[in-house]
Amino acid sequence: MVPPNELRPGCSSHERDTLAVELEHTLTEAFGPGGELRRFFAPGRVNLMGAHLDYNGGPVMPMPVDRGTVVVGRTTGTGRVRLVSTREAGTFDARALPDAPAGRWYDYPVGVVRQLAERWPAGVGLDLAFGGDLPIGAGLSSSASICIATALAADLLLGGTQATDADAEADARRVARALEAEREFVGVQCGIMDPFAVGFGRPGHLLWLECRTRRFEHVPLDPERYLVGVIDSGVRRELAAGAFNRRVAQCAEVLEALQRDAPELEWLCDAPRADFEALALSLSREAAARGRHVFDELERTLEARRALVAGDAAGFGAAMTRSHASLRDLFEVSTPELDELVDAATAVPGVLGSRLTGAGFGGCTVVLLERDARAALVAAVNDRYRTRFGRDATVEFFAGGDGPHEFTR
Ligand code: GLA
Repeated sequence: MVPPNELRPGCSSHERDTLAVELEHTLTEAFGPGGELRRFFAPGRVNLMGAHLDYNGGPVMPMPVDRGTVVVGRTTGTGRVRLVSTREAGTFDARALPDAPAGRWYDYPVGVVRQLAERWPAGVGLDLAFGGDLPIGAGLSSSASICIATALAADLLLGGTQATDADAEADARRVARALEAEREFVGVQCGIMDPFAVGFGRPGHLLWLECRTRRFEHVPLDPERYLVGVIDSGVRRELAAGAFNRRVAQCAEVLEALQRDAPELEWLCDAPRADFEALALSLSREAAARGRHVFDELERTLEARRALVAGDAAGFGAAMTRSHASLRDLFEVSTPELDELVDAATAVPGVLGSRLTGAGFGGCTVVLLERDARAALVAAVNDRYRTRFGRDATVEFFAGGDGPHEFTR
């Protein structure tokens, strides 16, 4: 078996404990001592295939990572929701939580907690301290991780449920709350992939999620042979900053054009490709390119899954690299930094494929590699990135992390 720590550079259980102790101090310094402090964790995720397909009703293949959000929390008798992170605190009346986002980090937990307003026990308050080791805005879904961690902490603290609560319905409810917080409260038109990947992922597996039906299953990725590398370009771009929502709108424009002849069509991924091709010339250059990416990526993702199930990891990796080319040329969400990282990685023997992950516009690339290509990948990436951009890109390796859970010291 693979020694677990070798795969857990992000958040080993020791590091998670250290962070929880720090958060206990943060919480009591901000809001005073007392009460039983409990600890919760939710992972981040990396997506390997199905780029920008979730909001088009297609399949995606993400995996949870061993990094994420740690929340320390307690109930109080203050009737207030008090949230604190290493950045700043926010304090609200539990019965009158804000109706609109403030543009602060705590919009995400507020967006989750406000959904509990109707069944909030009178006079009860909730104190939550947040920390974690996911880079923010890097495409590893720090926002879904914060939302699911909040939903888990709030459920277990307010409902008094036990740490062993692994009820599938409760998991699904938390995923739904995270989605609503991001879409309806924070206002990012994100698809369902992130909360599903964070909420339902399983170690050593990719999640195969059909976004139209919301059906999912777990596809194994042999951790003794393969690793998933995540390379951070260090370039940040806020997801909410319009470019992502614009891609969503352009895909909706293609769908609307198709609906003129097929009003029953609900998702772009359900349209016959031939109908799209017949229409493409009448679309704007940009809309046609976005649509073409979606149809190609749908075919590639189905192929990639077939390859993986048949034991052909190289075939899966090749689909990842083709996906990157399409994200660069047709969906236009790559950057020179991400292109360089993908080129550097795919030139290394033993690397099976690579592409940008998350929304794009900066953030991380994901790499599928044979375990023994690890050192060569780090060396090649450092060398090429430093030569071209004058700085390092950080490389981390994962084999799939735990799902959300309560943990004890
Ligand atoms: C972001 C969104 C996801 C998904 C990806 C692109 O990460 O949050 O829902 O659309 O971009 O695949």
